[in-house]
Amino acid sequence: MVASGKGLLAIDESIGTCDKRFAQWGIAQNPETRRQYRQLIAETPRLGESISGVILFDETIRQRTDNGTPFAKVFSGLGIIPGIKVDTGAKPMAGFPGETITEGLDGLRERLAEYARMGARFAKWRAVLSISDGLPTQGCIEANAHALARYAALCQEAGIVPVVEPEVLMAGAHTLETCGEVTERVLRAVFRELHSQRAMLEGMILKPNMILPGSAGPIQENLARVADATMECLLRAVPAAVPGVAFLSGGQPGELASARLNAMNVRFKHRLPWALAFSYGRAIQEPALRIWHGDPRNTVAAQEALQHRARCDRAARLGIYDAALESSHSSREEPALALA
Ligand code: 13P
Repeated sequence: MVASGKGLLAIDESIGTCDKRFAQWGIAQNPETRRQYRQLIAETPRLGESISGVILFDETIRQRTDNGTPFAKVFSGLGIIPGIKVDTGAKPMAGFPGETITEGLDGLRERLAEYARMGARFAKWRAVLSISDGLPTQGCIEANAHALARYAALCQEAGIVPVVEPEVLMAGAHTLETCGEVTERVLRAVFRELHSQRAMLEGMILKPNMILPGSAGPIQENLARVADATMECLLRAVPAAVPGVAFLSGGQPGELASARLNAMNVRFKHRLPWALAFSYGRAIQEPALRIWHGDPRNTVAAQEALQHRARCDRAARLGIYDAALESSHSSREEPALALA
């Protein structure tokens, strides 16, 4: 999953989230358009050069491509490991206004067994923490950390690798320092719970946020500062037994997500006990979705855009990303675009 030069591609948007993104670009929202879009991704040439694994949603793992092949089988045939999102979403947490607890533990053992039969070899569970006045509370951090650890233990029992995702959201006007403090507190709680639930650290991937200032704040920190703050936090809080860290993009533009991952790999590659990879959703998919527009005439251009972002992230993973890579692609992107 964290093989050299590769990372994960998250295409596990729930039906609601996927429809919201489709609506933004005027794409019809139904099971068939969602299937066509995921097929476009699966048929992107040479995706396996940059992508080691793909995270699917329940609907997608039950769907098939035009020729009748289930998605999990299509991806494994390409050398891309199929994974599955198994949480059932972040719900308002009773007694904790403004905070959420991620649900999905009930019946998880049985669901994991079914997903394993369908070909899933890893899973994802996302906890969500927000920063604002007095938040996140310790109660919310601990409840989410506990659920992540119970999930991880159940995955390992089923022979499925857990991707453990405690996401501290970018929303807000907080500083980079506050994001660092909160993320460190969250990661410490997560690893405490993983230990207490007897999860095997060697058999998991951590999917954290980068340390960034809030998206509503005035300051855009430079690449080196984000890289240093993120690595300082992770080096303190993530045990060396964990084989890989794969960042979420959290709404960062694709170019920035590549440049920041690259800066971390360049500045820290000789000091890191774990592989430093990506598990991006929006940062890889956004240009492709915008270009596709639900129109088959745009499929090839959309696939090129997807392949381009995946390649940039491959370069970032290797510490050889350069902004010049972006301009060499964008000149090819627009002429092919046919708008309905
Ligand atoms: P983003 O990279 O768009 O944040 O999505 C990654 C993900 O899987 C969130 O759970």
